[in-house]
Amino acid sequence: VQRPIEARDRLAWATAQMPVLASLREELGPGGPLRGQRVALCAHLTAETAVQVLTLRALGADVACCASNPATADDGMVAELRARQVVVFGRRGMDAAEWRSLAGAALRAWPEGPSLVADEGAFLLAALAADHAELAGSTRGATEKTPAGARRARDLAASGRLGFPVLDVDSGFAKHELDNSAGAPESIVESIGRVSGRLIAGKTFVVAGYGPVGAGIAQRARGLGAEVIVTEVRPTRALLAVLNGFDVMPMAVAVSRADFVCTVTGAAGALAAGHLDRVRDGAVLANGGHDPWEIDLDGLNARVARRVEVGPGNERLELNDGRAVHLLAGGETVNLAAGRGNPSEVMDGAFAIQVLGLVHLAGEGSSLPPGVHPVPARYDDLVAGRLAAAMGLSWAVP
Ligand SMILES: NC(=O)c1ccc[n+]([C@@H]2O[C@H](COP(=O)([O-])OP(=O)(O)OC[C@H]3O[C@@H](n4cnc5c(N)ncnc54)[C@H](O)[C@@H]3O)[C@@H](O)[C@H]2O)c1
Repeated sequence: VQRPIEARDRLAWATAQMPVLASLREELGPGGPLRGQRVALCAHLTAETAVQVLTLRALGADVACCASNPATADDGMVAELRARQVVVFGRRGMDAAEWRSLAGAALRAWPEGPSLVADEGAFLLAALAADHAELAGSTRGATEKTPAGARRARDLAASGRLGFPVLDVDSGFAKHELDNSAGAPESIVESIGRVSGRLIAGKTFVVAGYGPVGAGIAQRARGLGAEVIVTEVRPTRALLAVLNGFDVMPMAVAVSRADFVCTVTGAAGALAAGHLDRVRDGAVLANGGHDPWEIDLDGLNARVARRVEVGPGNERLELNDGRAVHLLAGGETVNLAAGRGNPSEVMDGAFAIQVLGLVHLAGEGSSLPPGVHPVPARYDDLVAGRLAAAMGLSWAVP
């Protein structure tokens, strides 16, 4: 029988795997560059997020955080943070209405609202613009971690509803290359294999979306011995997939050959109801994207005659026409909802860039005009250099 590991011990282990955040605490902590800042933070409530929150606090910030996804909140870690007097909103399995209310709760943790926002999926930014506009005046700036959130932030800025600068953390090396291209693909493919209990080698693996995450998944599934098919809507990315040696075809065709389908598009209905009518009997369906709408779950549920949980996070859905499919993690982000999530050292880089972005916004970056801006390139070099050093690499030309 597996014993649940104490949140305190998991937090200590994650902390030990996150050397860049440790270096920021050691170096910047005494100067308190975030002293007096009220940071509203939205994130998957994991051990790695807890390390980031405690780092922001070590740099002087007062932090209130909320869950970016009801399926990924780690209740033990929430309790651990609360025991350390951090204000946290969210719990695993809350319904959509409760989850949506968390944005307002985090933004209103202080009467005057936050001075900085660390966002994911523009959850807090959208709420600030729509429902809590009177608080926006005291916000000096924000960071955003996901590509979809950065697009939403650009839309808000274009419509004049964002009166402060937003740093697009996703565009920085540590998020874009380390998390999206390396960490997330590895953890998504590993989770799909383990949660489904199926061999990936020798199978047909369909990846929807050939952004950095999809490209990384395609490469890793091929490395395990799968035949990989890519579906894409953008010609440039479709061409790149072909140049990298993958078959590219419409989902309507690919799905009839798939043993595995993995969506990583950021778009709703990448695996649409019509595709489900052609899905191969026994196929495994998983979503690695940030939001659960990439697989049309309403369309899928309308076709289900019987559902049986055959393993943790692995549901066998018997369809009305006699076929069956396996849905992993109920269509939620598979590596976070049913797996262990990204390795801590990957989140170390992505979170360190976010912390440096917040320090920048509290200091010299506070004069940036409203709109979405890249993270200063020097932070990429700093984080990449420290991660490489922590891995024992030396890269300078002698
Ligand atoms: N699970 C994780 O740990 C993790 C980590 C990082 C990012 N993500 C998420 O993974 C998703 C992809 O990230 P990315 O950085 O590769 O994003 P991206 O926006 O760069 O790439 C997505 C690609 O999907 C394509 N696409 C859009 N709609 C499509 C459709 N209907 N069919 C096929 N292709 C379609 C787009 O043209 C684009 O090339 C996002 O939702 C992101 O938030 C997850």
